Amino acid sequence: MKTAREHFGSRLAVILAMAGSAIGLGNIWRFPYLAGQNGGAAFIIVYIVAMLVLALPIFIAESIIGRRSGCDTFGAMRKLAPGSKWRWLGLLTVITPMILLGYYSVVGGWSVDYFFKACAFRFDGNTEGLFGSFISSTWEPLFTHSVFIVVTAAIILLGVKKGIELFTKITMPLLFVLIVFLVVYSITLPGAFKGVEYLVKPDFSKVDINVVATAMGQAFFSLSLGVGTILTYASYVSKKENLLVSAGGTAFFDLLFALLAGFAVMPAVFAAGIQPGEGAGLVFDTLPFIFGQMHSVLGGVVAILFFLAILVAALTSSISLLEVGVAFLVERGYSRTKATIGLAFLTWGIGIVCSLSFGPLAGVKILDLSIFDFLDKLCSNWLMPLGGLLFTVFVGWKMSKADVRDEFTNGGTRNVRVFEFVYFLMRYLAPVGIVVVFLTNLLM
Ligand code: PHE
Repeated sequence: MKTAREHFGSRLAVILAMAGSAIGLGNIWRFPYLAGQNGGAAFIIVYIVAMLVLALPIFIAESIIGRRSGCDTFGAMRKLAPGSKWRWLGLLTVITPMILLGYYSVVGGWSVDYFFKACAFRFDGNTEGLFGSFISSTWEPLFTHSVFIVVTAAIILLGVKKGIELFTKITMPLLFVLIVFLVVYSITLPGAFKGVEYLVKPDFSKVDINVVATAMGQAFFSLSLGVGTILTYASYVSKKENLLVSAGGTAFFDLLFALLAGFAVMPAVFAAGIQPGEGAGLVFDTLPFIFGQMHSVLGGVVAILFFLAILVAALTSSISLLEVGVAFLVERGYSRTKATIGLAFLTWGIGIVCSLSFGPLAGVKILDLSIFDFLDKLCSNWLMPLGGLLFTVFVGWKMSKADVRDEFTNGGTRNVRVFEFVYFLMRYLAPVGIVVVFLTNLLM
């Protein structure tokens, strides 16, 4: 017998869970270094525009499909477009998040490791080469990757309400307090002002089509789009909720956290006299160095709080990825326990290969990229935008306008005035935006 589907308990729970999915390594690890590499404030402005005109409409499209169907991604396609090829989209968006979780949990494992190291006051000013030797070693990253997967699976095993909802309700406010503390700390360091300036004074000469495509891709990644996460979470949203409010609220918090993370990282980087364009090592390489330079207990405590923040943010995202696959299998008749354990093993295996690709498997290249980089590019540049494109085309062109309106306006009672505008964005602007990202990735 099929048990009744769980639902999130309140509007706040919905926004916290969705924001938990959105706010992750993308905000704290990726956004600061992308802003650092692509012109600071100018990048941020492009990013905000991309968020509003491209990412938000797709977020709404996924929410509409999820809540309308009340199903996992595959079931949603079968229900809303029975017997059609759209079911392949349902399948694609079950596979992509599993691949993504595979390599995401490797970086999640790094944050576990760095949190442990911070707790042991390991960042003592002598951290040169630490990051490189850590990620290229065999066992240590594998161990912390495993810890990360086990914790992710444990939360999912508890279910939607007692797992996802409770965990995000406790950790998201904590994360907010942590990040605000870190910002205050960072901007009051001597010499931090240059970093603040870098984030607020736009230099548009740096903005070209590549920067625009990077900003669009980041907006996509950061709002967890195109992989069925938002669709799946929306399927747990009650019919009374206002989809525009949950989408807007999530985007608002996601943006806020990206900016706060930028203000937590960049001023400290400038205060230490380091160049902002450091790249992927900015958080794991540069910050421990900066914390170590402080030579104080305070530096040690700040390091603990910083890596705790990254860890929590990564976990609230990884659970949303695993939930996509679990919802799919549960709908196909598997128990939640079996589904969770099976998929945890699968993603653990993918992660092992990714983790080793920094060390013993570094020589293995796919299209000139390491396995980790290949899977990251495959997901972020291709599969996620493809999923997002197809979701928004599905809502804009396949579903009947009356159904879309009915779902978005809660039967004509909410958001009626903005419907036409949002519909236009979903039908025309968002698909065109994604095609631009595709072409840029292909040609540049
Ligand atoms: N949005 C998450 C982040 O910023 C990553 C993510 C992508 C999570 C897709 C779920 C689905 O880190």
